[in-house]
Amino acid sequence: PVLILLGPPGAGKGTQARMLEETFGFVQLSTGDLLRAAVAAGTDAGKQAKAVMEAGELVSDDIVIATLRDRLAEPDCAKGVILDGFPRTTAQAEALDELLAANGQKIDAAVSLEVDDAAMVTRISGRYTCAECGEGYHDSFKQPKAAGTCDKCGGTEFKRRADDNAETVASRLEAYHAQTAPLIEHYARQGALIGINAMGDIDDIAGKLSAIVKTAT
Ligand code: AP5
Ligand code: ZN
Repeated sequence: PVLILLGPPGAGKGTQARMLEETFGFVQLSTGDLLRAAVAAGTDAGKQAKAVMEAGELVSDDIVIATLRDRLAEPDCAKGVILDGFPRTTAQAEALDELLAANGQKIDAAVSLEVDDAAMVTRISGRYTCAECGEGYHDSFKQPKAAGTCDKCGGTEFKRRADDNAETVASRLEAYHAQTAPLIEHYARQGALIGINAMGDIDDIAGKLSAIVKTAT
């Protein structure tokens, strides 16, 4: 199955994709994570993406599509994928439709996580992740059960993202509304769109998503 999570920065795409990965064994494909790994590794794509990401703008379609295409071709993706943060432009959505069609696949559901912009700033500014396994946390909404120790791997090092500051968040929200929100219409036309209210509790939203996955796949 192929599932898309659409939504602005901070909507909970990564949080929910990781939970679906655990529940259903699908692979989370986050272009944000793939690009951050490319930046850290200092690849050509990473060198081009770094400043763009720090400014909160969108990385060029060419780089992002090539990155996603390579990852999607890896054998583990045959189990099913959850696309987190991709596609983000009409050109990316069209490239994805073509890639999937060439493999005899289609999108099972495009879930739009509906949230208020104001709450997104709070979610993003409180976010941190385990440096070892990448598990996501939040200063107010999701703390590790034992203070300072990751629930998933027992790691004790945590990190915050370079682009999680108020100024960059504003640019990221702007990019979302201008370039990504039109995809809601793209998937509505395909009959794949499912909108859910994502302002609630993390576990409640996970429950709604699990029900969608069971019906759609
Ligand atoms: P990316 O990494 O995709 O970031 P993003 O879209 O800005 O999304 P976030 O990771 O910030 O938010 P999320 O929705 O995953 O929320 P999370 O679950 O962490 O992209 C970064 C950059 O890379 C882009 O700006 C761009 O430059 C580039 N890029 C990536 N993909 C691209 C593409 N396709 N094309 C072009 N450029 C691309 O949750 C946030 C926080 O809230 C966490 O702390 C979490 O614990 C908490 N939380 C989650 N759900 C809830 C809840 N229900 N209630 C309370 N707290 C919650
Ligand atoms: Zn961890």
